[in-house]
Amino acid sequence: MLRLSVLALTVSMSVAAFAAPQKNEPIQPIEPAVVTNQAKVELGKQLFFDPRLSKSGFISCNSCHNLSMGGSDNLPSSIGHNWQEGPINSPTVLNSSLNLAQFWDGRAADLKEQAGGPIANPMEMGFTHDLAVDVLASIPQYVQSFKEVYKADKITIDEVTDAIAEFEKTLVTPNAPFDKWLKGDEAALSADAKAGYKLFKDVGCTACHNGPAVGGNSFQKMGVVEAYETNNPAEGVAGLTGDDLDRFKFKVPTLRNVELTYPYFHDGAYWNLEEAVDVMARLQLGRKLEKEEIAQITVFLKSLTGEQPSFTMPILPPSTAATPRPQPFVK
Ligand code: HEC
Ligand code: HEC
Repeated sequence: MLRLSVLALTVSMSVAAFAAPQKNEPIQPIEPAVVTNQAKVELGKQLFFDPRLSKSGFISCNSCHNLSMGGSDNLPSSIGHNWQEGPINSPTVLNSSLNLAQFWDGRAADLKEQAGGPIANPMEMGFTHDLAVDVLASIPQYVQSFKEVYKADKITIDEVTDAIAEFEKTLVTPNAPFDKWLKGDEAALSADAKAGYKLFKDVGCTACHNGPAVGGNSFQKMGVVEAYETNNPAEGVAGLTGDDLDRFKFKVPTLRNVELTYPYFHDGAYWNLEEAVDVMARLQLGRKLEKEEIAQITVFLKSLTGEQPSFTMPILPPSTAATPRPQPFVK
């Protein structure tokens, strides 16, 4: 008898907690990835973690896009081959499949095109595409995996970048507290987070940070109302087009998992999320927010941290006598 009434109580409580989903919000939930080719994803995962794609044999994609650290390196700018200081902050790879283009200036159309860049970038992995393919071709287990996935005898850089991109597409972070709230779970957000979200919309952050990734879908000027002071020489989209109107236009970063992806902005100059919110409100919207308002927006932003990708670490196939040796200290 007692048990029954407890059960009835639980049922009615959960019905109350799961009301109808929110409608017409500028932010939509992240959906889990749908994997259609598991073997390709597994191969891409190995390549993402394999430091042998770098000249030093020490740097992998995961060095700068650490999946234990929100898909970033938590450095103002990355450390590349031979301890070189990178020119710009490393964006997270989490949810990067939702970006309209890749890189701060959008110079790569998609993840596959992007993945070729770092391997051959002398400031990053410092290798060449040919040498990277030679390394893989010297490792029988890789040869076998590529053959199974691509039905071809020879490994090509095209296949390498295709597999990495396929793995990256799985790096989405669904089920953030904010998404649970969007889907109707009122209890998923605190009162402060709800107040912060309302402010985020009311002051106009959603003009640029919207969609499932809360960004990633447009290029916007940094410093709309007030100029951004930085020593970083990056020009944004103007570096590609040469058009003065594109100066300081950057891809709007995703705010998903933003509490994990400090430091902030293309120059990585701000370590605290509160400071970044203050800068945005002043420079983009001409609005000086109160401390309390900044705190509430920050609580809301932290509710955008979703389930991090979880998988077993890939075991990489061993090198052979024929595998070109790494050159960690050669410029
Ligand atoms: C030495 C550090 C470093 C390594 C190694 C590295 N990256 Fe990056 N990555 C960066 C930096 C810095 C940027 C931003 C560059 C820019 O926008 O000009 C970036 C950008 C990206 C982006 C674009 C994200 C966005 O929001 O625009 C993706 C995706 C990415 N890298 C994936 C990879 C993959 C895949 C590998 C391995 C093949 C890799 N990276 C290796 C530092 C690195
Ligand atoms: C006019 C478009 C625009 C508006 C409005 C805007 N942002 Fe941004 N936001 C950007 C751009 C562009 C960047 C990247 C700037 C850079 O790195 O130089 C950015 C970066 C950020 C970052 C840093 C993310 C990272 O990973 O580096 C945060 C946090 C942020 N915005 C929050 C906000 C908040 C909160 C508001 C409202 C108060 C807001 N933004 C309003 C365009 C905008």
